[in-house]
Amino acid sequence: MGKSAGHRVVAAPDGGHWDSGPVSGTALFDQLRRDPDVEAPDLVAVDATDRLLLDEAAAPLALCGPGEVVVVDDSYGALTLGAVALHGATDVRVVQDLLVGELALARNAERTGLTGTFRHVPLAAGAAAGARVVLVQAPKALEALREIAETVAADAAPDVTVLVGGRVKHMTHAMNDVLRDSFTDVSATLARQKSRVLVARGPRPGPSSFPHRQDHPDLGLTVCAHGAAFAGTRIDIGTRALLACLERMNPAATTALDLGCGTGVLAAALAQQRPELRVLAVDQSAAAVASATATAAANGLADRMTVVRDDAAASLPDGSVDLVVCNPPFHLGAAVVTTAADRLFAAAARVLRPGGELWTVYNSALRHKPALGRLVGPTTVVDRTPKFTVTLSSRR
Ligand SMILES: C[S@@+](CC[C@H](N)C(=O)[O-])C[C@H]1O[C@@H](n2cnc3c(N)ncnc32)[C@H](O)[C@@H]1O
Repeated sequence: MGKSAGHRVVAAPDGGHWDSGPVSGTALFDQLRRDPDVEAPDLVAVDATDRLLLDEAAAPLALCGPGEVVVVDDSYGALTLGAVALHGATDVRVVQDLLVGELALARNAERTGLTGTFRHVPLAAGAAAGARVVLVQAPKALEALREIAETVAADAAPDVTVLVGGRVKHMTHAMNDVLRDSFTDVSATLARQKSRVLVARGPRPGPSSFPHRQDHPDLGLTVCAHGAAFAGTRIDIGTRALLACLERMNPAATTALDLGCGTGVLAAALAQQRPELRVLAVDQSAAAVASATATAAANGLADRMTVVRDDAAASLPDGSVDLVVCNPPFHLGAAVVTTAADRLFAAAARVLRPGGELWTVYNSALRHKPALGRLVGPTTVVDRTPKFTVTLSSRR
C-alpha cells in the first residue's frame, strides 16, 4: 500500500505543469485562494494549522492506499490538495460543512490541476468507512467535534489516525474529552506557530447521538440540531426576539424565506403559525440544512417547509419572495466584520418583491441599519435592547 509521496501533476505559477519531482508546499499553497469567500489582505487561504496538520500526518499518509484518507472541514482546500500533491493521497473523501469551502476547494483544485483527486461526502454513516488517516480542521463548536468523532469512530479502520488541528487559543481540554468518548488514545502535539494538533487512535464505535432534539413547550416547537448548527437545540435570544414579531410580519405574504436558517426555528415557527405561507429555509452549512430538515419533520411541517443548502439564496429567482427573516452571522474568523451580513442583506434585496419585508435581528453593537437602508430600502427599528436590535426593511 505504501508509495512515494510528493510527485504529482500540479499547475505551476507560470501556467505550465510540474509532472515529476517533489512538489513543495510553498509552490502549492501560493496558488490557493479563498474565492468565492471574502478575500482581504489579512485573510488567508492556508494557515499554520493546515501546514502543521500536513506535516504531522506525513508518516501515516505515506502508508495509505486509494480512498483511505478523509479530510473534514478543510477551509479552502489546503488539506485536501496538500494531502494529494505533497503526500500522494488518492481518491480523498472530503466532508465540508460550509458550501463556500466546497466551492473554494473546487476552484483551487482547478487552479492547481488537481480536479478529480477527491470527492465530497456528507458527514453521515459511512463517511469515513475504512479510513486510515482523517485530517480535521477543528470546528468551533464542541458538539461539531463530537459528531465528527462519532462518525469517524463508527467505521474507520481499526488502525486509523485522526489528527485534529486548531489555533492554540481556540483549543480546550474539553476537546480532548470529546475525542476520548470515541477513541481510546488521545494526545497532543507540541504547538507550532500558535497551532496544535490532537491525535486520536483506537476507535470506539458506537451509535451516533445526532441529531440532538429538544422540545420547547413555551414555543410549541421541537428543535433538532446536528453538531455544527448555530445554538444547537437552544434558541438564541435574538431568534426569540424575531419570533415575538411573527404576527406583525407582512400579512399579505404568501412566500417567506428564512435566510441563514440554522436549525430552522424561524422557518418552522412561520410554517406553524401561518399555514397559508410557503416557507423556504436556506443555509450554506450542511449541518444547518440537515438540522432544519429534521426540525421540519419533528414538527410535522415537512410538506410546508423547503430546506435548501445554498450560498446567500443564490438558487432563488429575483423578486420571488414576500417576506424574509434573517438572524445574520456576525463573526468571520476571529474578527467581527459586517461583510458576511451585508451579503445576506443584498441577497434579501434581490429575492424580495418590491414592497416585500425583511425582518432582521442583530447584536446592538453592530451598526447594520445604514447598510440595510442602502441595500434593501427604508428601515425602521422595531425593538431594541442593549443586546439586540430588530429592524424592518421595506424593499424599495
Ligand atoms: C446567527 S445564525 C442564525 C441561525 C437561525 N436563523 C437562528 O436564528 O437560530 C446565522 C446562520 O447563517 C448562515 N449563513 C452564514 N452565511 C451564509 C450564506 N452566505 N448563505 C447562507 N447561509 C449563511 C450560518 O450558517 C448560520 O446558520
